[in-house]
Amino acid sequence: MLVSVKEILEKARSGGYAVGAFNVFNLETTQAVIQAAREMRSPIVIQVTEKTMEYAGGRGIFHLIKNNAEFYAPEIPVGIHLDHGHSFEAIRRAVDIGFTSVMYDGSRKKYEDNVMVTKEIVDFCHEKGVVVQAELGFVPYLGEIEMKDEDWIKYMTDPGLAESFVKETKVDTMAVAIGNAHNFFKEKKQPDYNRLEMINKALNIPLVLHGASDWENEKVDEVIKRGISCFNVDTSIRLNFVNSLVSKIMKQGPMNLDVREFLGEAREAVKNVVKDKIKIFKSDSKI
Ligand code: G3H
Ligand code: 13P
Ligand code: ZN
Repeated sequence: MLVSVKEILEKARSGGYAVGAFNVFNLETTQAVIQAAREMRSPIVIQVTEKTMEYAGGRGIFHLIKNNAEFYAPEIPVGIHLDHGHSFEAIRRAVDIGFTSVMYDGSRKKYEDNVMVTKEIVDFCHEKGVVVQAELGFVPYLGEIEMKDEDWIKYMTDPGLAESFVKETKVDTMAVAIGNAHNFFKEKKQPDYNRLEMINKALNIPLVLHGASDWENEKVDEVIKRGISCFNVDTSIRLNFVNSLVSKIMKQGPMNLDVREFLGEAREAVKNVVKDKIKIFKSDSKI
């Protein structure tokens, strides 16, 4: 059943667990995430990026997720979310298609510009009942910049600025930078737990951690205690999908043209990694 992402995250926040926001890009990854959630009896967020919308068609992928969730897991709360929208245009397109949760990522902009655009987007979205996630600070991608340990301080979310940001923009949820990074980029040795505590106290809204593919159990536990209600997972899904395809094809040779066999195994591999993540985030058995 489709449910508001805000409701899913707020329940997690008050229940002392977090949910996974899993990036999908096709039929198999969508099925894998929904089947994993159903088997684990876990609420979930399923998300797509602008690039995925271009690849699969915005309406195509939105309705693929919606139909699969409604037909095959009617008892599971599923939120559908636009991940990393980079412009007002991208947000408008997603809302037009039916997304009820979007991220506007103005994190590469100057603070004032990030506030200005985020506020315009929140006004537009709230009028339509759509919830908005923003990002303040900088969650780097592999290869984007060179990051030495002493550089992290420049890029992490400032608790005071975050408080003013939320007051001015009225965003519903916030993506924070506490030493986390996308892909398998080298992260800060220890996340800045103190900073996260301060942000959580100041904002009092659900906080999202991007770059969660390589977060091990202990770090996950510590940040859930300090206010993280949602972990974004993309790289692990891609990695398991591709690894499975490659190893199956290498094993079988090029003569087997039944692609359903390859894709079926890749789907299973993704389902298994999503189930592991759900367990680590502690959102299993919540339905
Ligand atoms: O942070 C989001 C993704 O890891 C990047 O996704 O290649 O679909 O834009 P993309
Ligand atoms: P990973 O690259 O660690 O999977 O992070 C995904 C993400 O943050 C998507 O928004
Ligand atoms: Zn991200």
